[in-house]
Amino acid sequence: MKIRQPIITILGHVDHGKTTLLDKIRKTAVAQKEAGGITQHIGATEVPIEVIEKIAEPIRDILKFELKIPGLLFIDTPGHEAFSNLRKRGGSIADLAIVVIDINEGIMPQTKEAIEICKQFRVPFIIAANKIDKIPGWESREGSFIKNYQRQSDRAKQELENRVYNLVSQLYELGFESDIFFRIEDFRKTVAIVPVSAKTGEGIPELLLLTAGLAQRFLTKKLEIDENSPGKGVILEKKKDKGIYYLDVILYDGVIRKGDTIAFYGIEGPIITKVRGLFKAKPLTEIREKSNFIPVNEAHAAAGIRILTPENDKALAGSPLYVIRNNQSKILEQIKEEISSI
Ligand code: GTP
Ligand code: NA
Ligand code: MG
Repeated sequence: MKIRQPIITILGHVDHGKTTLLDKIRKTAVAQKEAGGITQHIGATEVPIEVIEKIAEPIRDILKFELKIPGLLFIDTPGHEAFSNLRKRGGSIADLAIVVIDINEGIMPQTKEAIEICKQFRVPFIIAANKIDKIPGWESREGSFIKNYQRQSDRAKQELENRVYNLVSQLYELGFESDIFFRIEDFRKTVAIVPVSAKTGEGIPELLLLTAGLAQRFLTKKLEIDENSPGKGVILEKKKDKGIYYLDVILYDGVIRKGDTIAFYGIEGPIITKVRGLFKAKPLTEIREKSNFIPVNEAHAAAGIRILTPENDKALAGSPLYVIRNNQSKILEQIKEEISSI
């Protein structure tokens, strides 16, 4: 048994700062060079636990237990109303979600939709109350929110409290008890609100530590996997590059190897085919140029991967994808069942 990284999907209304937040986490993480590297997969970013420990060091005392998960695998989703299907897909494979809300705007239509998705798939979530640097009088700077909070004027603190209170009452209307994270006693009953700025990086130590802590505390059973079992994943997207269709897949269980037989759902029904090519994105330092993937022979969960098969053109985004070692008919039944629930 191994404990895999929890899959953390970032959801929220358009322009509330999801991608900027992920960018900032990546930069902050990369800056911690001595703590080791960071890998960006397709639409997914892996942050190793050593990096999280390093970033969160100044506030490590808010978690009383040792972190054993190997890291966090983040998935970004678009907030525009047109991309409801992508949000659902991201939400359906999430172990935990971060719902990003512009603290100055509060809950908007796609925020509600994001929370509905969490409810539908029973995904626990926390709120990143973003853009606190725009609060009148707030002096935002990189690092711990708790430490920076103490330096603010009474007026700025009050402005923040008002906005948090507003979120708390809006969330209450949606059926959730919530509070600012440091006042919460039972995280199973109360949704945590973490004030952050994706622009300055303020609050990111708390956000990462809390995400890792909650995932480990409440999801460990789900994260225990046999790393040599046949791989299981979900097709996030089908992408065309130089005339060739690639499947961008999040692998959440087991292992997938080049040459493996796999099954997924296609436009015309179930497909059984072979993995001709298997790719991972290069480490962050080199990924600035697009589609800079390197071929690999195998990949272990959890990971973002790119798969090439002869049947890719017929693949259906959103479909489950399974490595088959035996009993093909059982797996096809399983796929049919799962696809009908997406
Ligand atoms: P979609 O993917 O289109 O839904 O948007 P998004 O949620 O990923 O938002 P994005 O990261 O694209 O940010 C939208 C805008 O808000 C950009 O201009 C960002 O620079 C800005 N922004 C994001 N976070 C912050 C923040 O913490 N403070 C300030 N001042 N601006 C921010
Ligand atoms: Na945007
Ligand atoms: Mg975005």
